[in-house]
Amino acid sequence: MTKITAAITSVQGYVPEKILSNKDLETMVDTNDEWITSRTGIKERRLAAPGEALSDFGVKIIEGICKKRGISPLEIDMIVVGSITGDYRFPSSANVMCDKAGCKNAWGFDLSAACSGFLYALDVGRVYVENGTYNKVIVIGADVMSSIINYKDRATCIIFGDGGGGVLLEPNEEGLGLQDSILRSDGAGRQFLFQEVGGSKEPLTAENVHENRQYVYQEGQTVFKNAVRNMADVAAEIMENNNLESDDVAWLVPHQANLRIIDATANRMGLGKEKVMVNIQKYGNTTAGTIPLCLWEWEDKLKKGDNIVLASFGGGFTWGAIYLKWAY
Ligand code: UT7
Repeated sequence: MTKITAAITSVQGYVPEKILSNKDLETMVDTNDEWITSRTGIKERRLAAPGEALSDFGVKIIEGICKKRGISPLEIDMIVVGSITGDYRFPSSANVMCDKAGCKNAWGFDLSAACSGFLYALDVGRVYVENGTYNKVIVIGADVMSSIINYKDRATCIIFGDGGGGVLLEPNEEGLGLQDSILRSDGAGRQFLFQEVGGSKEPLTAENVHENRQYVYQEGQTVFKNAVRNMADVAAEIMENNNLESDDVAWLVPHQANLRIIDATANRMGLGKEKVMVNIQKYGNTTAGTIPLCLWEWEDKLKKGDNIVLASFGGGFTWGAIYLKWAY
């Protein structure tokens, strides 16, 4: 019997129109364009319009995927959404997206893994396609980080932006698509990058909101050190496990958190800059959105059979790498 693999057959990204530049941030917090550019590689990021929610990003992504692939939303079986900024605490944004995009025959759920949300979600979607349960699974990674960022905190507001993307997974009998994954987590890292209150541990109160503890908190240096080590390690490990040399890898698609973390990962893999997708200068860190946004922007450069390594590190800590062969 032919082995079924799960292959990406369509990709769509979405970013809101409004741009927040480094120059704009100079008027909001004690920072400057030179510092942000040299420390992170970011020049500007996007902001959702007032009232624009994660599900609105999702609808644009789902519609784009279906249009490109020439299918009806009614054909979608399942939607898995990697995100930490859903419309509500419940119901899930996947649930809302199914309704708004007309995916009447689909079910789905949100999955919380911060910057690794897309990789975690992709691996979940993979299983349902590989085992023959479903033929059309949409995997989305997207975040509306502006909804949880304090624009008076220069440690976080310079990095994050809004946006995301998604892919369609379908069965493949040519051996293309997802080949291998390594996913990791270490909850001991949670206090270095998290949204401290608003969950069941400490629900929102007037007092903790007054203290601004409902926003993202990040201890940048600690996260940076862990990111450099773990993202590079896991990318090297997936190459080793699959006997991939640098020359065999067509593209690295790294999570876009900091250009220095991306460079460290590429160096460890022995890849030149020409093989590394980088759009951090335009969108900043869109958390679960960065990797599908890259795939969308580079889609017309990808060739059938290309070996591609996706790698991420983020809050949790969560990190991982996925190796896939491009299928179209
Ligand atoms: O995507 C999820 C995972 N997240 C990440 O991977 C992010 C990882 N961390 C980072 O990317 C970096 O740690 C940051 C970009 C967040 C910060 O860069 P850094 O090189 O680690 O800066 P730092 O916190 O060590 O601060 C260095 C200096 C300090 O000044 P002194 O003490 O040297 O005088 C800070 O006060 O830069 C100062 N500083 C700033 N200056 C201007 C900190 N933030 C800013 C700022 N603008 N926004």
